Amino acid sequence: MVSVSLKNVTKRFGDIAAVEGVNLEVKDKEFLSILGPSGGGKTTLLRLIAGLEVPTEGEVYFGDKLVNGILPRDRNVSLVFQNYALFPHLTAFDNIAFPLTVRKTPKSEIDKRVKEVAELLGIRHLLDRKPKQLSGGEQQRVALGRAIVRQPDVFLMDEPLSSVDASMRIAMRTELKKLQKNLGTTLVYVTHDQTEAMTMADKIAVIRNGKLVQIDSPQTIYDSPRESWVASFIGNPPMNLIPATWLSNGQLEVSGVRPPITVKTLSKKEGLSAGKKVYVGIRPEDIEVSVAPADGAVCKGEVYLLESLGDSMIVDIKVGNSIIRAREKVDFRAQIGDQVFVRFNERRLALFDLDTGAAIS
Ligand SMILES: Nc1ncnc2c1ncn2[C@@H]1O[C@H](COP(=O)(O)OP(=O)(O)OP(=O)(O)O)[C@@H](O)[C@H]1O
Ligand SMILES: [Mg+2]
Repeated sequence: MVSVSLKNVTKRFGDIAAVEGVNLEVKDKEFLSILGPSGGGKTTLLRLIAGLEVPTEGEVYFGDKLVNGILPRDRNVSLVFQNYALFPHLTAFDNIAFPLTVRKTPKSEIDKRVKEVAELLGIRHLLDRKPKQLSGGEQQRVALGRAIVRQPDVFLMDEPLSSVDASMRIAMRTELKKLQKNLGTTLVYVTHDQTEAMTMADKIAVIRNGKLVQIDSPQTIYDSPRESWVASFIGNPPMNLIPATWLSNGQLEVSGVRPPITVKTLSKKEGLSAGKKVYVGIRPEDIEVSVAPADGAVCKGEVYLLESLGDSMIVDIKVGNSIIRAREKVDFRAQIGDQVFVRFNERRLALFDLDTGAAIS
C-alpha cells in the first residue's frame, strides 16, 4: 500500500520531451487513470513510475521515499502491458503462479491464490492450457492474473483491455475496479479511451504532448474541463464548442446567427472585453431542441442529421455556420431540414478562450 508522486518530472529522448514538467500524486489505494491521445506520453509516464525509465529531471516518490535510483524489481510494482508476453512453455496456471514460485511461496498457498485469481478473471477452465492455445483476450487475462496474484504495492497497467473484445472489456472494467477496491491496491491505469477512464478511475490525469493538462475526478473533468481540448476529448459525443464573439452583458455573436445569443447567467462575467473570441461550450445533453419557440438562450437552427442510439437520439443541428449536436429523447420527431429552436441549459454553459483554449471562469 503506497502513494506515488511525481515532482517536476521530465523525460527526454534526444530532442523529444516525451514527458515534461509533470507534477502529480496518486494517493494510497487510489485508482488513477492517465488519459490522453496517442503519443502523448502516457506509456513513458508509466515506465517512469515503474523504474523502466529514469527521469531526465525531477523526482519520483513512493510514499516519502525517493525511488529514482531504485530498480524496477525492487519497487514492488506489478506491470500489465497491452502486449504482455507470457512464458510460452508454461501453462496458464504456471504463468499466473510464476511470481509466487519465484518467491518460494508454499505450494498450497500458490494453488489457492492462483485459483482465486483465475475465478475472478473467468479463466478457471483454461488453467491447463499454454498461451498459444488461448485467444488474445484470454492471454491478456492470464497476464492480469499474474499481476494480481503477487499482491504488489502498486499496479501499473498500460491499456490492458485493448485486445479484449467489447463485451468482455465492459465486464472486465467492472471486475477490475471492484478488484482494485477490494485489494486496496494503488492503481495507475493508462488508456486513450475516455469511457474507460470515466467509468473506472477515482481520478483522471489528462496528458497531452507530454504535459499534464488537468488532474481531477471524472465528474469534475466532465463538468469543468480546464481547456477546450479536454472538453472535446471527453464525452460521447463530446462537448460542442461553438466559435463566438463576446459582445457584452452575456451577448454572444455566433457566425451566421441573428440576433446574437443572450445568456443571462453570463451577464455578470467580468474581465471579458468586447470583441473577445471565445468558444461556447455546451454538452449534447444540456441542449433542448423543440419545433416550437421556447424560453431561455434560444437560437434557431435546422436539423442536419438524426442518429438513433437506441436509448437516445443524437440530433445534429446547423446553427448559423456551426453544427451542434444535441442528445434528445429517442422519440424526438423531426425531419432533416426542419427548422427547430435550440435552448441551452444556461447553468451548464462554459466559455473558453478561442486562442489559448483556456477555460474562462
Ligand atoms: N524510447 C524512445 N525513444 C525515442 N522516443 C520515444 C521513446 N519512447 C517514446 N518516445 C516518444 O515519446 C512520445 C510519447 O510516447 P509514449 O509511448 O509515452 O506515448 P503514449 O501516450 O503511450 O502513446 P500511445 O497511446 O500511442 O501508446 C512519442 O512522441 C514517442 O515517439
Ligand atoms: Mg502507450
